[in-house]
Amino acid sequence: PTIYVITPTYARLVQKAELMRLSQTFLHVPQLHWVVVEDADQPTALVRNLLAESGLTYTQLHILTPKDRKLQEGDPSWLKPRGAEQRNEGLRWLREMGSASRGQHGAAVENAVVYFADDDNTYSLKLFEEMRYTQGVSVWPVGLVGGMRFESPVVDGGKVIRFHTGWRPNRPFPIDMAGFAVSLHLVLTNPDAVFDGDAQMGFLESSFLQGIITMEELEPKADMCTKILVWHTRTEKPKMKREDALQKQGLGSDPNVEV
Ligand code: UGA
Ligand code: MN
Repeated sequence: PTIYVITPTYARLVQKAELMRLSQTFLHVPQLHWVVVEDADQPTALVRNLLAESGLTYTQLHILTPKDRKLQEGDPSWLKPRGAEQRNEGLRWLREMGSASRGQHGAAVENAVVYFADDDNTYSLKLFEEMRYTQGVSVWPVGLVGGMRFESPVVDGGKVIRFHTGWRPNRPFPIDMAGFAVSLHLVLTNPDAVFDGDAQMGFLESSFLQGIITMEELEPKADMCTKILVWHTRTEKPKMKREDALQKQGLGSDPNVEV
């Protein structure tokens, strides 16, 4: 089965570095279709060229997060969800594609799997083979997230019975975005399932999952959720102190060089 990986991304100094690292991980994964959704009102040349040269099968989409839903400079990062509109745009594209291709290669499409991969996390190649045979929603632990060494579904007798998390364990699905995959079949048969861009902090994943699955139905992967195969890494924002100083003297780095 094909894995459709939906990645929201936005322009910033480290964007190309993040997407390069991600694309070179995905090159090692068979049957992966990368759906990159830019948080922008136009597709950008940087992303277009990176994708064209990547060697991957991909789709480039874009949708700008409305201003009232976007974090402003100085806002704490937890104030508003990020990437919600972009993931929904990816879902919209999948549903459009799914209904267009039904009949033709219906089975191939319906066996496919959807994963939401942020552009800054770290992914083991093994993770993709774990998620590839997802029937409904599969789950696994995520390292370095939620102020914990890891967060994880807790499995007993092959079923998820609760969640190991440091914060609000009674959320419907206290799972990071990186900790689950969903079958394309479920996406297509639940056309209204989307991410709620107004969700409270920590409830974005639940807003999508609660309409389509129950805890008992979750499929535990990664050796019954005992192995960490994805890490919620975050990239430090580079300091531009020297650049800014040199720019004032007209000696800044050549703006025509893409970084
Ligand atoms: C955590 C979760 O891991 C995310 O999946 C979740 O969307 C986010 O919290 C949230 O609460 O909304 P975190 O590392 O804090 O992640 O978020 P980012 O990695 O900064 O952003 C998540 C994704 O959205 C990234 O792929 C990023 O490129 C994208 N993004 C971020 C945008 O498209 N636009 C933005 O303005 C900011
Ligand atoms: Mn992140």
